Amino acid sequence: MTASTNSSDFQTFDYDVLIIGAGGAGLRAAIEAAGDLRVGLVCKSLLGKAHTVMAEGGVAASLANVDERDSWQTHFADTMRGGQYLSQPLMPEFHAKEAPKRVLELEQWGALFDRTKDGKILQRNFGGHKYPRLAHVGDRTGLEMIRTLQDHGIHQGIDVHMECTVTKLLTDDGRVVGAFGYERELGRFKVFNAKAVVLCTGGIGRAFKITSNSWEYTGDGHSLAYHAGAELMDMEFVQFHPTGMVWPPSVRGILVTEGVRGEGGILKNTDDKRFMFDDIPDLYVNQTADNPEEGWRYTQGDRDARRPPELLTRDHVARCIVREIREGRGSEHGGVYLDIAWIKEKMPNAEAHIKKKLPSMYHQFKELAGIDITKEPMEVGPTTHYAMGGVRVDPATQMSGVPGLFAAGECAAGLHGANRLGGNSLSDLLVFGKRAGEYAAKFAAENEDTKADPAQIEAAAAEALAPFERATANPYDIQFELQDLMQDKVGIVRVESEMEEAVTAVRDLKERASVVGVSGNRQYNPGWHTALDLDNLMTVSEAVAMAALERKESRGAHFRDDYPDKEEEYSKFNSVLYKGEDGQMELRREPVPALSEEQSAIIEENR
Ligand code: FUM
Repeated sequence: MTASTNSSDFQTFDYDVLIIGAGGAGLRAAIEAAGDLRVGLVCKSLLGKAHTVMAEGGVAASLANVDERDSWQTHFADTMRGGQYLSQPLMPEFHAKEAPKRVLELEQWGALFDRTKDGKILQRNFGGHKYPRLAHVGDRTGLEMIRTLQDHGIHQGIDVHMECTVTKLLTDDGRVVGAFGYERELGRFKVFNAKAVVLCTGGIGRAFKITSNSWEYTGDGHSLAYHAGAELMDMEFVQFHPTGMVWPPSVRGILVTEGVRGEGGILKNTDDKRFMFDDIPDLYVNQTADNPEEGWRYTQGDRDARRPPELLTRDHVARCIVREIREGRGSEHGGVYLDIAWIKEKMPNAEAHIKKKLPSMYHQFKELAGIDITKEPMEVGPTTHYAMGGVRVDPATQMSGVPGLFAAGECAAGLHGANRLGGNSLSDLLVFGKRAGEYAAKFAAENEDTKADPAQIEAAAAEALAPFERATANPYDIQFELQDLMQDKVGIVRVESEMEEAVTAVRDLKERASVVGVSGNRQYNPGWHTALDLDNLMTVSEAVAMAALERKESRGAHFRDDYPDKEEEYSKFNSVLYKGEDGQMELRREPVPALSEEQSAIIEENR
């Protein structure tokens, strides 16, 4: 194969609905859209390898199996409070109402959840959820969900394109009409004509140095949508999961599920102090035991809604950990201690219980760090985990501002506001994956086929091949510089001067990335893949840094040392980023939609 852009190089596929990304949201969307329609599903990696599996501890749905007081209303109120009231209120409402149906449907398709003694789906505690709400399969919930969706999906007549990266959305007169991509193995081009396209590409974690995200998560959907004319929203809110591995260095950032804390795990500093009791935010004060004895819970079925402070929301727990480390009370390798082994003081069969409820964590620490978590504490620290920000979509249909272009799951914005509650990602992708698939299919049925102008395809091919014509900077150097920059200047604790530096530095890196060169040819060329990912990483990094700089307050996952409090002015808007007429990224404020009377009443009742 040569680097020619001759159209005979392209394989062409015609679909009604094209889904880009095959994690939970993509699979659920594909299942919904399939039937009489031609559905194509493109994944950057192998089918089933998705960040969905990193939501280990459970899927949030108010099934009320463990505490009958739970309801969609409480789930709605918890999600709004967790998001610090910046969510688009209809999304948490749809989500809370529909999550139980989606989980039960998954069970009918073969998902094997852990059970209560009376045979119902078992639910565990997670941060910010008032009642035990997370349906789970040990600590492998996302994996079981992907397995189930995959098994169900492959019988629906969906065409799957594995190891294929999409580099451009194709448009015609402002409407999306398909996508252009290449096979990662052989470098051959693929053109997908489609009446509707659904982006389900997940997150942006690879813009940061320490992350739970694997190599695929370079903000592709965010960037594809942005360049096609859609808007991004809430990009300043990046979730740093409190507990990633910190040692050994090769595994730094790998997720340590919140399920460990849901099963009774406690956080301690090097003085053996349970430091989470030192700072309990007002919003949660009535839900948190001030007496450690009362706060310790490690069994299921306890009806007391008070919870240990380790299960406060992730943004808060991550910041408390950073405080301990910065003030010199961290662990040997720069984290803090997470101890689940202590439950043997309260539970005779603790060792077997830990292995049963947290099998992946047991093996992960045993094999990667030589730690037996049934006997010793783990060392953990924050890791970039999730983007609350994403493509701005209509709450009901998930369609973006570009006709025919939909987004669901992590790459869409609106459900989680300033901070996501653990377990709400899995229910998000089920609820809104289904909605996106449904409305994309409707759009496809109601609209005529249109094809992209061949010149647009030739231009996409030429752009993809351009790095072969250049021999300047190394793409990996630019990627590493960006990751260091975002981690250091736009990380968990932010200040004006550093973010100003970051915005300038990202723009400079963007210039350098636009002329990056690679050697070799199109087959098996990871340097080329990295060069093509850079544009996406630059787009999302610029968006995060710009929106973070503009929000002069601390709210949810966005914490500013120079503005440590929430400010009324900033409670009223979402940050929206878009491509201005001169091609530069611009930001505007968009008012947060008003709550309905019913929604306000629910929030009041659940304060
Ligand atoms: O900690 C976890 O198991 C992650 C869950 C999530 O991100 O929803």
